Amino acid sequence: MMTKATKKSGKSTKREVPKVESSGDEIRGAVREHYGNLAKTGSSCCSTKESSCGCGGLYSQTEILSLPQDAIAVSAGCGNPTAIASLKPGMVVVDLGSGGGIDAFLSARKVGPKGLVYGIDMTPEMIHRARKTARETGIENVEFRLGEIEHIPLDAGVADVVISNCVINLSPDKQQVFKEAFRVLKPGGRLAVSDIVLISELPEDIRENLTAWSSCVSGAVSEKEYVGAMKNAGFEQIKVEDRVVYTHEQLSDYLKSYEYADRPELRGRNLSELIASYRITAVRPRK
Ligand SMILES: C[S@@+](CC[C@H](N)C(=O)[O-])C[C@H]1O[C@@H](n2cnc3c(N)ncnc32)[C@H](O)[C@@H]1O
Repeated sequence: MMTKATKKSGKSTKREVPKVESSGDEIRGAVREHYGNLAKTGSSCCSTKESSCGCGGLYSQTEILSLPQDAIAVSAGCGNPTAIASLKPGMVVVDLGSGGGIDAFLSARKVGPKGLVYGIDMTPEMIHRARKTARETGIENVEFRLGEIEHIPLDAGVADVVISNCVINLSPDKQQVFKEAFRVLKPGGRLAVSDIVLISELPEDIRENLTAWSSCVSGAVSEKEYVGAMKNAGFEQIKVEDRVVYTHEQLSDYLKSYEYADRPELRGRNLSELIASYRITAVRPRK
């Protein structure tokens, strides 16, 4: 989450913003464009101290130092799912929405040469970037595949662990994503996600904004809906490990990157406790 959108030049309080018209393909198209641009520009929130996310707060210094700089440069997560994934040498891991590969590369180190990590992402520029980083840094136990997490390009039952960092909120069909995560996990396999969850109703103009969706704000659903979709998919032992609720300052600073802060509707509005970053684990039952 919380990748800063490229600021458009000039100030305009009346600028029309794209609306969420709710076709799944339209949403995925906007999301793909957003992250395609990030892959090309490499302007991650990781380098922005005042941002409400960022590698500094999400990953340990040791982890940051162990990671390829090119992956850090496009990191756009809202947590660190590898910290709750219980990864062990030899495991097979699937990273849903792997982006520049930050969590895939961390996982690759943890599962070692006998393990394997699949990174799945629908944005070609991200896949190309992650593959290039893997090649240039000699990380051999990762494989990046182009595809939608609603239709994971992997056989059933291949994974010991499925991780995801700030991606499922972006999907227009979260139920289908959890169904697919369940399918690719081995019986007894673990799901470990960091994601944005809605705490209370968003102002309409944010909720309907496609840029806000691409930036992991307006696609977020409530904990009840999120956990409900996991349960419907068949997951058990669902546990909210922790959650960080965004303050007014964090969210309004973030929205400033879209010039929302200049919009009259938002002036004086309290933006605290609208969304939070959650870390959730679950298990695919053995039978
Ligand atoms: C917020 S970024 C997070 C990237 C990475 N997990 C990280 O922590 O840096 C979201 C990523 O998910 C990908 N993505 C979003 N929706 C997707 C979908 N439906 N299928 C596959 N990838 C998707 C985007 O292309 C983007 O690379």
